Amino acid sequence: MKTKDKILALLEKHRGEPLSGNEIAESLGISRTAVWKAVKSLREEGYTVSAASNRGYTFENQNDMLSPQSIYPYVADREFYPEIHVIKITDSTNNDAKKHGAQGGRSGSVWIAEEQTAGKGRMGKQFHSPPGSGIYMSVLFRLNVDIADSLLITSAVAVAVCRAVQKVCGVSSQIKWVNDVYIEGKKLCGILTEASLNYETQMLDYVVTGIGINMKTSAFPEDLKEIVTSISEHTTANVSRSQLIGEVLNQLQLIQADLTTKGFLSEYKARSCILGEKINVITPSESFPATAIDINDFGHLIVEYENGKTKALNSGEISIRKR
Ligand code: BTN
Repeated sequence: MKTKDKILALLEKHRGEPLSGNEIAESLGISRTAVWKAVKSLREEGYTVSAASNRGYTFENQNDMLSPQSIYPYVADREFYPEIHVIKITDSTNNDAKKHGAQGGRSGSVWIAEEQTAGKGRMGKQFHSPPGSGIYMSVLFRLNVDIADSLLITSAVAVAVCRAVQKVCGVSSQIKWVNDVYIEGKKLCGILTEASLNYETQMLDYVVTGIGINMKTSAFPEDLKEIVTSISEHTTANVSRSQLIGEVLNQLQLIQADLTTKGFLSEYKARSCILGEKINVITPSESFPATAIDINDFGHLIVEYENGKTKALNSGEISIRKR
């Protein structure tokens, strides 16, 4: 790692606290002049590092630029996430991670962008991905998962995101089957899982799970304004995107161990904002009124139609009916 990157990682670890030039120099085994030069170069890149003669350097809380150095201090197990790639602009981080997967890339490789020009949602929808204010991340995993259980990956990721948002931002969130995280009835986060299947074994070769979180996004297009929300609308805590990304990665690692036991499903159901609700099941041609009854062990939604018949939905879209 370059000296500048080492200093950035150290400052990030002590975000908001002053660190003297001496402390930094000693802990990295470099001169104070080298520290000063690196801080100067970080400032030129856009980081706010204040300096006071008797206190030293402070990496200010408002810093919110993304880099591997800013994220790794919040990642509990670096070996589990051997690569974090941060890109300024891309079409879709899912595409980047999938390319890496097809070329034999390592499990735990993470792709993050400041901006996506063609952010993808489920059912061919777009995911609004303006620069600098949201989290657009995709993680490549090689998991031992049967195709029949693949829907559970998205369910587990939704629970992991809720836990991370709670822990880092102190905000409680709900899940709208199958892949959306909501706060107070509005969408905060969407999850898009894509996978490559090994036909012979019927097991997944690799999985890419893409997570989009509105963090500080305020200007939404007209058609989204009433239905989406951002973390910044629900807390005054000054949380950086790097902190939340780090915690999402930690929670993804923890929940992965739970995939086979399906232990997270009880929390998935407890966080559901649709169970017991009147919904519409939306198909490409029509929409059918129903009631959301339960979520089964495969993550399928059990609905009861108005004629009393029940059905387990393994994909598709639903909307909550207004009371
Ligand atoms: C949805 O709302 O239906 C899912 C949205 C998923 C968005 C994320 S952002 C990072 C990753 N890259 C994409 O193109 N999509 C996912």
